[in-house]
Amino acid sequence: MCGIVGFIGNKDSKEVLLKGLEKLEYRGYDSAGIAIVNENGVTIFKEKGRIADLRRIVDERVSANTGIGHTRWATHGVPSKTNAHPHQSTNGRFTLVHNGVIENFDLLKREYLKDVSFVSDTDTEVIVQLIELFVKEGLEVLESFRKTLSLLRGSYAIAFLDERDKDTIYVAKNKSPLLVGLGTGFNVIASDAMAMLQVTDQFVELMDKEIVIITKDKVTIQNLQGETISRNPYTAELDASDIEKGTYPHYMLKEVDEQPLVMRKIIQKYQGKNGELTIDSKIIDAMKQSDRIYIIAAGTSYHAGLVGKQFIEKMAKIPVEVHVSSEFVYNMPLLSEKPLFIFISQSGETADSRAVLVSVKELGHPALTITNVPGSTLSREADYTLLLHAGPEIAVASTKAYTAQLAVLAILAEVTAKSRELEVGFDLVRELGIIANAMEVLCDSKEIIEQVAREFLTVTRNCFFIGRSLDFYVGLEGALKLKEISYIQAEGFAGGELKHGTIALIEEGTPVIALATQEGVNLSIRGNVKEVVARGANPCIISMKGLEMDEDSFVIPQVHELLTPLVSVIPLQLLAYYAALHRDCDVDKPRNLAKSVTVE
Ligand code: F6R
Repeated sequence: MCGIVGFIGNKDSKEVLLKGLEKLEYRGYDSAGIAIVNENGVTIFKEKGRIADLRRIVDERVSANTGIGHTRWATHGVPSKTNAHPHQSTNGRFTLVHNGVIENFDLLKREYLKDVSFVSDTDTEVIVQLIELFVKEGLEVLESFRKTLSLLRGSYAIAFLDERDKDTIYVAKNKSPLLVGLGTGFNVIASDAMAMLQVTDQFVELMDKEIVIITKDKVTIQNLQGETISRNPYTAELDASDIEKGTYPHYMLKEVDEQPLVMRKIIQKYQGKNGELTIDSKIIDAMKQSDRIYIIAAGTSYHAGLVGKQFIEKMAKIPVEVHVSSEFVYNMPLLSEKPLFIFISQSGETADSRAVLVSVKELGHPALTITNVPGSTLSREADYTLLLHAGPEIAVASTKAYTAQLAVLAILAEVTAKSRELEVGFDLVRELGIIANAMEVLCDSKEIIEQVAREFLTVTRNCFFIGRSLDFYVGLEGALKLKEISYIQAEGFAGGELKHGTIALIEEGTPVIALATQEGVNLSIRGNVKEVVARGANPCIISMKGLEMDEDSFVIPQVHELLTPLVSVIPLQLLAYYAALHRDCDVDKPRNLAKSVTVE
């Protein structure tokens, strides 16, 4: 969702800001803007649409060494040039960008800003107007900022400029992510380190309710009481090439292809000196001490959680519940006596999951985050973290993070099982190696899968995914992938549920993608296929070597039955990719979606 960048230093800021915004495009946005300040005042360029549209209107003749930029994903007010950030106070002195949601903006308008005429429909404009108001009432800029922040309810990452001081950027954050990047003769800010890797790999994390005053040579972090806080920078362990597409037409395809590599990296990262898989003993103790595990996640990560439950229950024999985070916030079930919460989140920033983490911490329960982003909010705020080591995932549709989540969950289950002296029955390192090889075979089968996508998904308006047991969960993920990037209405169902209602939707030619990788239910799922075929469906069966039959459209290599989701999801990711491509959709940046969902 929305992204922020800022630059203050020794050169014209425009290009750094624009490049930074391009690196934040993956988060999802519908308008963008930059504001720069020099001795002649502030100049704002903003536009609805893509950064490329913004670039077209930026006047090369105006230059300034200080600037802030923003990509907006609309929450309050439609996507438009007027609602795009930066926003200015009425007298034009202050110019501000904001991520997050100010929940009490209406109240603040009524209480403090009755006489102000607002230009946009955003909640953000309230912040910049309040800063102007308190300065007019006699406060120094910093004091006014502090007073404004103390009135805000909700989430924010804020950066603003004062027209009368071209040498300072003011920054604050609460719940929404924001980092300060350090350089020689310049400093930067960014929602995500990736945006500023172009100029530095040294970053300082900010904590909630901190204010930062940034000049080109100095970064001063303060708490709301005005006390200065010192914090060491860390080196972002990201390679600039990790975030480039290289020769790939889309990030999604690159990320699908990276999955075998990610598997091998995970094995290496989680293997101890003796070759055994290993996990921080504090995490394993927390697993062993819990009488029930609650997995909390959203979207694809939720689907990974459904499979993870099977891994943990089957290997480590601890009961697991899996919940969608946005529901859990309001509908907390009766908890067991010794719960352990596991948050699964690629980005580590999902606001719905974070809201649950905050309540869980208030209740005093232990929490583990499984994430791809070290230092992310969910990682910082949980007691323990397990990293995915998948490398940056840029495409909005999650692919390699899903399989990495499954691999890490399997390792967590296996190590817990062993420490409980339970027999797992297979060698996970070996099986994950076999999975990496099978993934390679699948990534090399793109032509066949493209053909299947052409045959089944080019003209249809809907598509159903069916499966039983683990295949059901993979079907849910396949349906999510297809709908989010190709806009085909796609739903996943348990094979046995079909005749309890959904079968009514089957018409002549409706594609039904059936997964058949589980021996115990192979015949029953094929029975379900017969039922839909009898009603006109066009079936596409994806089975596994050893269970295949003549009618199957695609057969995946054989892997351990419990671990099939790591492999069977790949043809579904590729089906979605090619369906989107054939339908001329924007694969990496599907409409209405954001990569990092930082509002509840
Ligand atoms: C789908 C997708 C989303 C995310 C969801 C949670 O391809 O990417 O469904 O899985 O928004 O995001 P994280 O995992 O970052 O918490």
